[in-house]
Amino acid sequence: MTITPLDTVTAIQQRRSIKSFKPDPIPPTLLHQLVELTVAAPSSYNLQGWRIVIVQDAAQKQALSEAAFGQPQVVQAPVTFVFAADSSSWQDEAVMGQIYQQGLDSGAWPQQTVDYFKGAIPQFMTALGPKTREYTIKDAMIAATHTALAAEALGLSSCFMNGWLEDKVKAVIGAADNPDIGIALLLPIGYAAAPRQNPGRLPLCANVSVDQLGTAYGS
Ligand SMILES: Cc1cc2nc3c(=O)[nH]c(=O)nc-3n(C[C@H](O)[C@H](O)[C@H](O)COP(=O)(O)O)c2cc1C
Repeated sequence: MTITPLDTVTAIQQRRSIKSFKPDPIPPTLLHQLVELTVAAPSSYNLQGWRIVIVQDAAQKQALSEAAFGQPQVVQAPVTFVFAADSSSWQDEAVMGQIYQQGLDSGAWPQQTVDYFKGAIPQFMTALGPKTREYTIKDAMIAATHTALAAEALGLSSCFMNGWLEDKVKAVIGAADNPDIGIALLLPIGYAAAPRQNPGRLPLCANVSVDQLGTAYGS
């Protein structure tokens, strides 16, 4: 089946949080495309510290739903992406070597940039201290946004989910004993079984400012 993807603007405008899914599976080639588009997301220093777990197994989906206060969309959707983040990824020398080499080979990063990163990344990440987790979670959230919009463009639906207990989600994905893993988001994906309903947005002047907070945009 050939899909003509929606353009980005249409995908953004059309996307809604869908909480009821058909049991229809996502074809493996389509799922693969979605995964590729997910990891095309940018990340701080291109560290790619997200850890994405594609939950498909029925028992795993059930356990994930229980970790998410019984929210049914995780059980109904054929696939749920768990966006986790490893705040220690920058300490893996082999992976960092691969990232630097790809940057060099592609021509995107001159040797000078790589040499700078080799000093700057450990310095920056160490200085962040406990905020390292927040930084890595940001990257995982950006990747999740790519997934949701790509899914919409490819005829699928999704639901961003923050309603879950982190320790329980970590246990489900096998990360209970890893303090460096944080959970960013759950994203069930599948074919919508309910119409897209838009709950609306505040007027721009409510939360968009010019130059400083409080100078409302558009007023
Ligand atoms: C970070 C985040 C967490 C959310 N968590 C949940 C959730 O746990 N369960 C749920 O049903 N919807 C969840 N939502 C969906 C929101 O309720 C929804 O995005 C919002 O009402 C706007 O609707 P729309 O996504 O259709 O535009 C979440 C959305 C975001 C962005």
